Amino acid sequence: MKATISRKGYFSAAHRLYNSNWNYKKNIETFGKCAFLNYHGHNYEYIVSLTGEINPETGFIFNLQKLKNILYEEIENIFDHKNINLDIKYFLNINPTIENIVIFIWDKIRKKISFNLKLEITLYETINNFVKYEGK
Ligand code: NI
Repeated sequence: MKATISRKGYFSAAHRLYNSNWNYKKNIETFGKCAFLNYHGHNYEYIVSLTGEINPETGFIFNLQKLKNILYEEIENIFDHKNINLDIKYFLNINPTIENIVIFIWDKIRKKISFNLKLEITLYETINNFVKYEGK
């Protein structure tokens, strides 16, 4: 029997959206307030979902306590109260949009979850703006 389990989490972080090949005017035209020089913050929310067979011995798809620990190590611990552009090397040259952030997170979580489970992550930057990623 297949089912999907999900766990939600939160982190607060700062970022700035810009393309370093463009001048300030073009960055503001493209990214609006998100391109302001001195960064701004978001309260991000994510939902990590795992789909797979329910193990008949445990009744679990995946142990949620283990998932909680993985999400703490691979998401909160890396992003919470950080400046994404400056503190996370990966984003030194990659624009920290929700699209690029969710791919970064998905790649990290994927390495910790067995491959017979499907991994899907939804990342909210605001109540209204969110992205879903389930791998390539
Ligand atoms: Ni922003």
